[in-house]
Amino acid sequence: MKFNPIIYSLLITLFIALIGCDSKKTNSFSSKDKDSIDSKVDSILKLMTLEEKIGQMNQYNGFWEITGPTPKEGQAAKKYEDLKKGHVGSMLNVKGAKEVYALQKIAVEETRLGIPLLFGFDVIHGYKTISPIPLAEAASWDLEAIKESAKIAAEEASAVGINWTFAPMVDISRDARWGRVMEGAGEDPFLGSKIAEARIKGFQGDDLSSNKTVLACAKHFAGYGFAESGRDYNTVDVSEQTLQNIILPPFKASVDAGVRTFMNSFNDLNGIPATGNKFLQRDILKDDWQFDGFIVSDWGSINEMIPHGYAKDSKNAAEIAINAGSDMDMESYAYIDHLKQLVEEGKVKESDIEDAARRILRTKFELGLFENPYKYCDESYEKATVGKKEFQDGVLDIAKKSIVLLKNDNNLLPLQKSGKKIALIGALANDKTSPLGSWRIGADDESAISVLEGMNAYEGNQLFYAKGADVVIGRTQFMWETKINDTDKSEFSKAIEVAKKADVVVMVLGEHGLQSGEGRSRSDLGLPGVQQDLLEAVYKVNKNIVLVLNNGRPLAIPWAKENIPAIVEAWHLGTQSGNAIAQVLYGDYNPSGKLPMTFPRNVGQVPLYYNYKNTGRPSMNEPESVFWSHYIDEQNTPLFAFGHGLSYSKFEYSNLSLSKKSFQNNEKIEVSITLKNNSNIKGKEVVQLYIRDLIASLTRPVKELKAFELVELKPQEARVITFIIDEKMLEFYSANSKWEAESGEFKVFVGGSSDNVMEENFQFLKK
Ligand code: NOJ
Repeated sequence: MKFNPIIYSLLITLFIALIGCDSKKTNSFSSKDKDSIDSKVDSILKLMTLEEKIGQMNQYNGFWEITGPTPKEGQAAKKYEDLKKGHVGSMLNVKGAKEVYALQKIAVEETRLGIPLLFGFDVIHGYKTISPIPLAEAASWDLEAIKESAKIAAEEASAVGINWTFAPMVDISRDARWGRVMEGAGEDPFLGSKIAEARIKGFQGDDLSSNKTVLACAKHFAGYGFAESGRDYNTVDVSEQTLQNIILPPFKASVDAGVRTFMNSFNDLNGIPATGNKFLQRDILKDDWQFDGFIVSDWGSINEMIPHGYAKDSKNAAEIAINAGSDMDMESYAYIDHLKQLVEEGKVKESDIEDAARRILRTKFELGLFENPYKYCDESYEKATVGKKEFQDGVLDIAKKSIVLLKNDNNLLPLQKSGKKIALIGALANDKTSPLGSWRIGADDESAISVLEGMNAYEGNQLFYAKGADVVIGRTQFMWETKINDTDKSEFSKAIEVAKKADVVVMVLGEHGLQSGEGRSRSDLGLPGVQQDLLEAVYKVNKNIVLVLNNGRPLAIPWAKENIPAIVEAWHLGTQSGNAIAQVLYGDYNPSGKLPMTFPRNVGQVPLYYNYKNTGRPSMNEPESVFWSHYIDEQNTPLFAFGHGLSYSKFEYSNLSLSKKSFQNNEKIEVSITLKNNSNIKGKEVVQLYIRDLIASLTRPVKELKAFELVELKPQEARVITFIIDEKMLEFYSANSKWEAESGEFKVFVGGSSDNVMEENFQFLKK
C-alpha cells in the first residue's frame, strides 16, 4: 500500500481517539503540549507489548554505512526481521531520502502498531555541504555564526531523511593528542557551554515538528575528553572537582538549552564505564537536572563493558546499562536479546523499560513523526535542497570567521593583490578532500575548494604551485588508518625552485583531514611526515613565508613560531575552505578568530591549559634554583595561549575600571575597559573577561573565562566595553559539594587573550 499522509494522519487520530486522548497537532515545547504529548505516549504504551517497548530501545546501523566495528555476518538479516516485528526504534547511518523512506515504510506499514523510526546520523559539521570542523568554529567565538552553521546542517540533513544528529560533542579536552578535539569546542567549560547552547538551538530550532530541524544529541556523557595520555577510548580518572567544574558544565548547559537526547561514552570513569554509570545517568542527568529526553549508548558501548571488566557477558551488560539509565542500545544487540528475560527474572524493572520507551516515543511525537512519518523523505525536495547556494554562502561565512591569525610580523599579510610573484607550496594546498576534515560521511570526496583554487581566483599576481611533499600516502578513508609520508622528499627541489623566484611563499602544511577524529590520537604534535624538513628547506631560499596550517588539533611547531613571519591557523574549514583562506590572505576578510585551545611548545607539556592551578611552587624563588614547578628542558608557557588571535587591525586596551571594589549577594560590579582600533582597517576583536578566586575552600585556577564579547570597530574607533560581575559568576563546585560563591578576594582580568590582559582586584562579601 502506498503511504498516504492524510490517511495515516486519520488513522493516528482515530487510534489516539480510541484510546481516549487528544489528537491535535502537538510538537512545540509549551507545557500544555508537553502534557498532551505525554498522554498520547501513555496511551500508546498501553497498547504495546514488553517486546515492542524493548524494541523502541533498540537502534541498528543502516545496511550500508558504518561508523564503528564491522557488523558480523547474518546481522543484516536479523535487523530486517526485527524491523518488521516492530523491534527497532531507530536506525543510524541510513543515507538518502529514498533509503529512509524504504525503512520507514516497513516500520509504519508492516509492524503491528506502525510506530515510526528515528533516523540518526553523525552530522557533525554538515551533511554534504561541510562547514569547518567544530574546533575551528569554536575559534570564531561567534555564537550567532555557530548557531547558523548548525541550522544549515540541520536543514540539509533533514532534507535527506535524517531527523536526529549525534552532535554537538560537548566534551572538554585539554589534550591535543586526543584526535577528537577536532569535534569539540576546546578546553574551556564556559566557552564550551555557550557553544553547546548555540549548536543545539541551531539544530533543533524553536520547533522540532518543522521539517528543517533535527534532534540534537549532547555527547559523550561523560569524561571522554579526559582519556589518559590522549589515547582514544582510554580510561578516565578524574576528581569530583574536575568532573563538576570542568567536564559537566557544557552538558548541563545542553539540558538548559533543551537538548532532547544524550549519548553516553565509551570510557571508564573512575572505575565505572560511563554506559553503566548510574551516578551520571540517573542521579545527575535524569534526577538532578530533570532531563526528560533519552540517552543513547555509544556504538557497542553496552557490550564494551565486558572487556572493561565490568560485565561478565552481554546479558549482564544489558542489565547494568538499563539499571544505570541508558535508554537506547546502539548496535550492541544487548537490549533486544536480553531485556525481556531480565525483566522476567526480576533483574530489571518493567517500569524502567516503560520509562525508556516513553522518553523515546516522546521525541517521535515532538518531531511530528506520528503525523507524518515521511515528512523527511521527499526526493525532489532533497535534490533541490542539498548543496544549495545559500548553504555554500553560509559555510563560507563561518569558515572565514574560524580562521585565526597567529603571527604577522612586519605586516606580511595581507598579500598585495597584484604585481607579485607568489609561490604556493604543500600537498594540502591542492587537496580537495582533506579540508572536509574528519566526520563528513555524507560529503563527496574532492568536493572542497582547495587553497590553489581559492588563490587562483585572484588573478593580479603570478602564482606558481609546487607540492613539495605528500602528507599522506595510500587510501585515506573514514574507516582506515592514514599512512604518513615520512620518507619521500623527491619533490622538494621543485618547491625550492618556485620559492626562489617568488616575492612571497605561501606554504599550506599540517594534518590531512583524516589525521584527526575518532580513533586518531597522535603521540607527536609536530607537522606530520617530512613537512618540517620541507618548511626549513624552503626557508633557506626564501624567508618571506606565510605558513597556513591545516589541522584538527593544536600543533607544537616552535621552530615555525620562531622563524616564520606569518602563521595562519586555518584548521579544516570544509567545502569552502580555499575561498575562505584566500579571502583572508588577500585581506578581503579581516581575521578575528581566537584559539579555543592552548598550543603547546612541546608534546611533553600536554595536558597544557590556561585554567591551571598555581601549585605551591609556581616560580623560581632564588636565581637558578631547581626546586620549582617546571621542566629542565622546556618553558612552562604555551606556544600560543588560549584566546590568542591577531587581526589586520591593531587593537589597544586601556582604562580598566570597576564600579566598586566590593559587593554582596544581589549586588553587582560593573567592569569597563576601553577598546580602540588603532588602525585604518575595520576589524573585530573578542574581548575576554577572566576571574581568579584567590583563596577558596578548594584551590581555584589562576584564571577562568567568565564572559566575552565580539566587538566590531571602525578604523580608529574607540569604545567602552562593559561586563557585569555578579554572585553567579563566582560560583564553583566547592568543598561543600555544591555550587556556591565564597566570600573573599578576587581578581578580574580583561584583554584580547588569556595571556595578555589588564587586571584589577575586588571583594565578594557573602551575607
Ligand atoms: C562512535 C562515536 O563515538 C559517536 O560519537 C558516534 O556518534 C557513533 N560512533 C555513531 O557513529
